[in-house]
Amino acid sequence: MMRSNYCGLLDTRLVDQDVELCGWVHRRRDHGGVIFVDLRDREGIAQIVFDPDRPEPFAIADAVRNEYVIQVKGKVRHRPAGTINADMPTGQIEVHAHEITILNKALTPPFQMDEEHLNDDIRLRFRYIDLRRQEMQKNMKLRSRVTRLLRNYLDDHGFLDIETPMLTKATPEGARDYLVPSRTHPGEFFALPQSPQLFKQLLMMSGMDRYYQIVRCFRDEDLRADRQPEFTQIDIETSFMDEMDITTMMEDMMRGLFSEVLDVHLPNPLPRMKYSEAISRFGIDRPDLRNPLELTELSDLMKEVEFKVFSEPARTDKGRVAALRLPNGGNLLTRKQIDDYTLFVAQYGAKGLAYIKVNDLSKGKEGLQSPILKFLPDHVITAILERTGSVSGDLIFFGADTKKSVVNDSLGALRNKLAEDLNLNTSQWQALWVTDFPMFEYNEGEKRWDSLHHPFTAPQVDSIEALEADPGHCLSRAYDLVLNGTELGGGSIRIHRPDMQMAVLRLLGIGKEEAHEKFGFLINALDYGCPPHGGLAFGLDRIVMLMAGAKSIRDVIAFPKTQSASCLLTSAPSPAPEKQLRELGIRVKSQDKPQ
Ligand code: AMO
Ligand code: AMP
Repeated sequence: MMRSNYCGLLDTRLVDQDVELCGWVHRRRDHGGVIFVDLRDREGIAQIVFDPDRPEPFAIADAVRNEYVIQVKGKVRHRPAGTINADMPTGQIEVHAHEITILNKALTPPFQMDEEHLNDDIRLRFRYIDLRRQEMQKNMKLRSRVTRLLRNYLDDHGFLDIETPMLTKATPEGARDYLVPSRTHPGEFFALPQSPQLFKQLLMMSGMDRYYQIVRCFRDEDLRADRQPEFTQIDIETSFMDEMDITTMMEDMMRGLFSEVLDVHLPNPLPRMKYSEAISRFGIDRPDLRNPLELTELSDLMKEVEFKVFSEPARTDKGRVAALRLPNGGNLLTRKQIDDYTLFVAQYGAKGLAYIKVNDLSKGKEGLQSPILKFLPDHVITAILERTGSVSGDLIFFGADTKKSVVNDSLGALRNKLAEDLNLNTSQWQALWVTDFPMFEYNEGEKRWDSLHHPFTAPQVDSIEALEADPGHCLSRAYDLVLNGTELGGGSIRIHRPDMQMAVLRLLGIGKEEAHEKFGFLINALDYGCPPHGGLAFGLDRIVMLMAGAKSIRDVIAFPKTQSASCLLTSAPSPAPEKQLRELGIRVKSQDKPQ
């Protein structure tokens, strides 16, 4: 062993003991004849002192530079009075060195370890240096601890850790697939799994009863702060458990995790909310309940008003008119800020952002200020004020569109944005289950139904006739776990009857032939004794991101991809050699060739 102790774990109990340390030179300071080296390893930093009365080590210490890798032998001692650093875990002690070996030199790093405002591209290009930073080391340790605790829980509850193939067939989770060409079958492709969904269902049919896997999933989709093209799921499936059994067990696991790691005590049981209520009150199916703002339904009030912007959406089933009251908003926001929020909601398709400023409620209409007052009859204005619970000082925003989703998306996003900009959140952690999702949503473009979750999710109705009679109103047995407005995980009870599975695929526009071509193996397996089963998958990266207080899942993934799904460290993806392409039977069109 080259090392007796970690730098960051030295403390006064080791005073007078000889230690051997290895690590990186975090900083080197020359203090009038004495050289101080802050030596850093995974656990933290220790101060090493080199005296000129030991000329040989002193000369070497004089030559070291930041990020050199060195080994030091020395004795731990108390720091002299007045030099104790209370901000440093090892700030009580220092190591008086009598030997130093340079294990490796280092070029000047592209950034300093404690620099703020680092450039993201440089961080990713030099990820091995970025990962040396304390914050990143903390995140990696946290991630490892989270996976260990989750594994322990699942092992203790009888779940078997079983691996599933990476080279496989397409799995429908709504994104594009990453394809891998086959050399032995020219012109044919594997798809990397978007999730192990089909395999974990097969494992239930195989009698495994309880399965889990901490598994990489691949999705070619638009990336955001909480989305990467390859990410990790804690993937779970069980037999003979219903949605209440599964969600109860899973929230027990999450409560344990949060309590153990963060000393945060999530409520028992977690609150549950139906999808319809979430959309109606928050415009979104993953509401951030830390935020006190809520939408108010106004569609029924606006049917007869002369303001077409409101009456048209109010008169169609597909439209919505809703308000979002910002308490004290009249005082908090300037006209310019309201204009900026109007531009903000435009990104979500909103054609405007009408508002009423409630200057003085006691003065009736005179006390209000708004570009739309002239279009609304008095009784409607009174009803708006009552329904939103407005008081003097408030600001009421309005969203109206003949497409409900535009109102929900724009006011839902505005609600989050206001909370962020004005610091409105009233608590630190708010988790809930969202349940009773619709089975399908109508895809206008393709003129067919799409699954809201995935095509293997069971409907709440048992009969195929009931399902087919009114697919638009049919609810599913799906559930999502939402924490602070982020979807941490989701799952469902699955269809375990072949006739129901075929009926659902039919509604999705997948005919018998296509169904067998794509998922024949699953449909066949349903015929050979399939237990009722269900499960869910958590996004590990998202869990760790929230626990670490990170802004992006990139900060909790060792080697993540950029926004455009490339790796700046390895320069992947990259062109393949002509010979390899030939073997695969692939020719790249000349206009697609990289420059
Ligand atoms: P779903 O598609 O909802 O369900 O995914 C489950 C969880 O995985 C995380 N997640 C992601 N994290 C980072 N980057 C991504 N691109 C990404 N996509 C998803 C989210 C999400 O809640 N097979 C089903 C689960 C099941 O039914 O059991 C599935 O994959 O946290
Ligand atoms: P206009 O009649 O277009 O001048 O709009 C009057 C007010 O209504 C402005 O404040 C607009 O921002 C707002 N507005 C217009 N369209 C919508 C809409 N679809 N939803 C909410 N507010 C709107």
